[in-house]
Amino acid sequence: MALPGPGYSITMRVEAPPSASAAGDLTTAVGQAGGVITAFDVVESTAGRMVVDLSANALSAEHAEQLTAAVDALGDVHVRKVSDRTFLVHLGGKIEISSKVPLRNRDDLSRAYTPGVARVCQAIAKNPEDARRLTIKRNTVAVVTDGTAVLGLGNIGPAAALPVMEGKAALFKKFAGVDAWPVCLDTTDTEEIIRTVELLAPVYGGINLEDIAAPRCFEIEARLRERLDIPVFHDDQHGTAIVVVAALRNALRVVGKDITDCRIVVSGVGAAGNAIIRLLLHQRPAEIVAVDIKGIVWEGRPGMDPNLADVAARTNRAKQQGTIHDAIVGADVFIGVSAPNIITGADVAAMADDAVVFALANPDPEIDPLEAQAHAAVVATGRSDFPNQINNVLAFPGVFRGLLDAQAHVITDDMLVAAAEAIADVVAPDQLNASYIVPSVFDEQVSPAVARAIVATCSPTPRAGGAKASAAGVHGAAAGFAPDDADPTAGV
Ligand SMILES: NC(=O)c1ccc[n+]([C@@H]2O[C@H](COP(=O)([O-])OP(=O)(O)OC[C@H]3O[C@@H](n4cnc5c(N)ncnc54)[C@H](O)[C@@H]3O)[C@@H](O)[C@H]2O)c1
Repeated sequence: MALPGPGYSITMRVEAPPSASAAGDLTTAVGQAGGVITAFDVVESTAGRMVVDLSANALSAEHAEQLTAAVDALGDVHVRKVSDRTFLVHLGGKIEISSKVPLRNRDDLSRAYTPGVARVCQAIAKNPEDARRLTIKRNTVAVVTDGTAVLGLGNIGPAAALPVMEGKAALFKKFAGVDAWPVCLDTTDTEEIIRTVELLAPVYGGINLEDIAAPRCFEIEARLRERLDIPVFHDDQHGTAIVVVAALRNALRVVGKDITDCRIVVSGVGAAGNAIIRLLLHQRPAEIVAVDIKGIVWEGRPGMDPNLADVAARTNRAKQQGTIHDAIVGADVFIGVSAPNIITGADVAAMADDAVVFALANPDPEIDPLEAQAHAAVVATGRSDFPNQINNVLAFPGVFRGLLDAQAHVITDDMLVAAAEAIADVVAPDQLNASYIVPSVFDEQVSPAVARAIVATCSPTPRAGGAKASAAGVHGAAAGFAPDDADPTAGV
């Protein structure tokens, strides 16, 4: 099913004879070994030899070695060195800090730093809300992890999680102009994480929790929301839920069903499944049946933690028991955020007519998408090599852009729903079809549309969701910078 892709991309520096057939021999060797050539650059040429950089995509690290061996085995050819292009991208890290102000002479120094800065400090000491106007707090988000649930790699620790968090920060900047900074914590203790984030919160306008394992992530998020006066958003939960709800809205448009008539099976009640179920409940589906590794979730099932018990109480009114294969019979929608290859084509065939299947387990979905397509009307996965990729990048940059622009103190379920609707509505009615239910992650309309939806949902009246936040309320500034930005001396 998998194809050679840029995730396993190498460049071989190769010495070869300058014969007419040399280039063809090299590319044929790579092609016959199953690689895909992406570039052929001559870096040195003399009468007696040529040196070329041959770039190719492979299926895996082992496959990349096979491509190298195939080239090296050609007569008169010598592979001098091989660069892994993915590792090259990460050399020295992927993000940096740069100064926004000129520091050319003593005058500049006096304003940006001492003595001038002291007056700005005093202004903030007098009115702490000014930190959002006069410091990086205005546009900066902490990407906080303990490294316990990183991609599909599990608990790999804070240092190994850093390349992912740097990547996330780069995406924040690219798609929404948000300055995000990785905060990888060397602890897995719930209390230590909460206290640490609380202590560093003054610098940030929002907290994006990332790759923290369930069920600890639920408590960490809930308690931080109580304590902090800035929005706290666990992307693995809510980013996923927003994009799933957006995709489902459009999938149901394609098949002409109303969600209030739909029976939805959600496989997996971890970080993603839990948030998806909670956001779907706002859409009032006819029924949701949750399934986890122990089978169907039903009220009264022994051994459930409080979170799962709450899901059980709010789903599966018929108290159905059994396995995923029982739950899926007659369902209109299957949403998998669980494990690879747990359902078959026969299961999808047993669903209602015009079934919708979102098989989102990464890297291998709950069912081979081609097998699902044989029986379902709409299929989505988390993969970039199939149509309808459910990708959190559609949500989190715009969500935080909106939260920062609105100077919001909290994030609410209404905002998550509004973000989902905004993503769905970027797909125009004349673009919508079974293979295009979500916009491309590179569609430049997405992030501003999500940000506008978040800002519009921010109420000027106080909202529940945090002790300090309730007291402070939510600032309902218009999209873009708050009006008082225009006056650099306001409040000073
Ligand atoms: N945008 C996306 O495509 C996207 C977003 C989030 C998560 N995911 C994927 O969803 C999966 C779950 O992510 P998570 O962060 O919620 O993980 P998690 O570890 O928090 O939860 C996993 C859940 O799956 C259940 N599960 C495990 N094996 C199962 C089985 N054989 N049958 C039924 N349920 C089973 C577990 O009981 C648990 O409820 C991962 O593969 C992840 O990569 C994809």
